[in-house]
Amino acid sequence: MLLHRAVIPHLRQACRLKSAPSRLYIRACSTDDSLQPQCPSLAFSGDNSSTRGWKVMGTLLGLGAVLAYHDHRCRATQESPHVYTREEVRSHSSPETRIWVTLGCEVFDVTEFVDLHPGGPSKLMLAAGGPLEPFWALYAVHNQPHVREMLAQYKIGELSPEDKVPSTLKTSDPYIDDPVRHPALKVNSQRPFNAEPPPELLTENYITPNPIFFTRNHLPVPNLDPETYRLHVVGPPGGQSLCLSLDDLYKFPKHEITVTLQCAGNRRSEMTQFKEVRGLEWNIGAISTARWAGARLCDVLAKAGHQLCETEAHVCFEGLDSDPTGTAYGASIPLARAMDPEAEVLLAYEMNGQPLPRDHGFPVRVVVPGVVGARHVKWLGKVSVEPEESYSHWQRRDYKGFSPSVDWDTVDFDSAPSIQELPVQSAITEPKDGETVQSGEVTIKGYAWSGGGRAVVRVDVSLDGGLTWHVAELDGEEQRPRKAWAWRLWQLQAPVPAGRKELNIVCKAVDDSYNVQPDTVAPIWNLRGVLSNAWHRVHVHVAP
Ligand code: MTE
Repeated sequence: MLLHRAVIPHLRQACRLKSAPSRLYIRACSTDDSLQPQCPSLAFSGDNSSTRGWKVMGTLLGLGAVLAYHDHRCRATQESPHVYTREEVRSHSSPETRIWVTLGCEVFDVTEFVDLHPGGPSKLMLAAGGPLEPFWALYAVHNQPHVREMLAQYKIGELSPEDKVPSTLKTSDPYIDDPVRHPALKVNSQRPFNAEPPPELLTENYITPNPIFFTRNHLPVPNLDPETYRLHVVGPPGGQSLCLSLDDLYKFPKHEITVTLQCAGNRRSEMTQFKEVRGLEWNIGAISTARWAGARLCDVLAKAGHQLCETEAHVCFEGLDSDPTGTAYGASIPLARAMDPEAEVLLAYEMNGQPLPRDHGFPVRVVVPGVVGARHVKWLGKVSVEPEESYSHWQRRDYKGFSPSVDWDTVDFDSAPSIQELPVQSAITEPKDGETVQSGEVTIKGYAWSGGGRAVVRVDVSLDGGLTWHVAELDGEEQRPRKAWAWRLWQLQAPVPAGRKELNIVCKAVDDSYNVQPDTVAPIWNLRGVLSNAWHRVHVHVAP
């Protein structure tokens, strides 16, 4: 696909060029003979004429692609580069004028790439006609070799020396004010900050201590003053909106519940092992459990005059973290869930008896028990009731599941519902993959959880890759029917069969709807690597 993306625009371009000068040009600039296209034989003995025709056409197309790609690479790397002023770059900021961007002193024509941009065309268009640095500083996921390689294919020249990147852009760091984090966290990305506790700490406590609770940020952490903080709750048409201070929120009845929060990308790294996906490489720790306290969303919505209406409606949340254009993180849940007192959706201001830590949404966040982490909006600034789901990128263009055959060329985000309740999940936290365990008896530990308040009723553990099974012992708080918001920790002490040199440990959970986890990744693989809940497998050696 990368080759396709690299070649097609240039093939189009090559079709407009005369082939002879192009070939001459290749010979003149190539330093690597292995890259010289050989003159192909167009005669295919034994072929019938129609397949021969196809083969000739295929050969020509292939050759054209090689020539065009080579031609382009040569121009990018060998010829003395075209020099452009920043002013010239600025004038290329729309599909009509073509879309140019700069990185350092290099200039790129990304017109053909805009529609393929994984974060959506609109995000890349923010940088049209200007430098990428301010956006890459914010979305540090770009600072990877494959992204630079991809960009290199679109290079058309360099900035004139006097037009270097303004130093303010180089030094401005939107993450400068992010909080200090616990050193035990395994960091998946520093900017924005994304990290998980190591497996052995994850199930050490039923309640995850605040400093090692996994963190999933898309943007810099806002630094909000609790004195001036206000939550805007938009009233119904004709009604009155609320503007609530923290003290106002404290006046609502305080509600406290234990809730496990899991990111849709938890265990994505196992999907990546099967086939490449786009997203952060979460191991098994993008899940944690806390006691959350706050006002019930249904009470606040009722105070603003909202009622559960017949029509399909959604409660939209907006965070106070935003990108350089002022676009805030946002998400939504159905109004029916928000208004249901039994669903216990919170506007939480406490986490494990403390004010929320900054990374987890200080001073107020949404907690939606049983629902994917993406809807638990942190640094909550606004709540409104809308006829449609949130228009946020993270509601409409992310956090959705697709068939394993859907790829980035065919994906239609509008065709899939946004993820809300998550499927049944479990993982082994001890022992670790590759570890050596003692012969005699082995202790296996882990967690299990299911979305939508479904209780975990059983965890099956196998030492032989799934041929035979033991039932693990479940620990943790008793779960209320249809309100099993928190995980069960589990453990199993099992004899190691005599003579075994290695164990293929596997776990799978069963919830009270008798949902079970799929045995392998293949049938659930999806291009974003979300909803990864296949049997968790750990391979260990047995000490002689
Ligand atoms: N809310 C805001 N405002 N900004 C964010 O980046 N990330 C979401 C959600 N709420 C996010 C947000 C995602 S994807 C997840 S999984 C959870 O927060 C993670 O919450 P945590 O960092 O407290 O674990």
